[in-house]
Amino acid sequence: MQLFIDSADVAELRAAAASGLIDGVTTNPSLIAKSGRKMKEAIAEICAIIPGPVSAEAVATDVEGMLAEGRYLARIAPNVVVKLPLTENGLRACRTLSDEGIRVNVTLCFSAVQALLAAKAGAYFISPFIGRLDDKGVDGMELIREIRCIYDNYEYQTNILSASIRSVDHVRLAALAGSDCATLPPKIFAALYKHELTDSGVEAFLKDWASTGQSIL
Ligand code: E4P
Repeated sequence: MQLFIDSADVAELRAAAASGLIDGVTTNPSLIAKSGRKMKEAIAEICAIIPGPVSAEAVATDVEGMLAEGRYLARIAPNVVVKLPLTENGLRACRTLSDEGIRVNVTLCFSAVQALLAAKAGAYFISPFIGRLDDKGVDGMELIREIRCIYDNYEYQTNILSASIRSVDHVRLAALAGSDCATLPPKIFAALYKHELTDSGVEAFLKDWASTGQSIL
């Protein structure tokens, strides 16, 4: 499964990229606002740090506006993926941009039939929001399982990018459900390494090693 970082903070992204484990980045208008950066500069810098897909979201709500913003964003760097909302206009713009060879990440997906429409519109990624469904008392992970089943039934090539991830367990369950990618807040990515038995195991090995008085080099 590909791991993306959900952030527009360049320092956070550099730190995560140093792991060698990060395949891409997702941003959204809220994350750009939080970064305090000009969008074009931030996206260009992020694209230079991480060579994989970097999602940059259009904010127009009409088709012509989405197309103009999408084409503009796609020119920032070859690895930009244009993010569009799962609205009727968003999917119309998705069809046109996809036909032009611009990759589109259809975001704010909350149902399997929405994901079906996005695949039919040629989306490169579909972003189902797990955490926001959980917040409403609905099992967000069931949506990932349903989309996986539908895409496999009809051999749609759209990649499932599990989003709105709130926990390490979300990552585990998304991987088990066959999600192609997951986008994680940096603190969830950092938590993936952690297990108390790893920490105590390292501590015990080092203690025993010290008692030998040896050094390897
Ligand atoms: C992904 O593309 C979204 O930007 C993100 O995962 C939304 O997460 P949130 O629901 O925690 O804001």
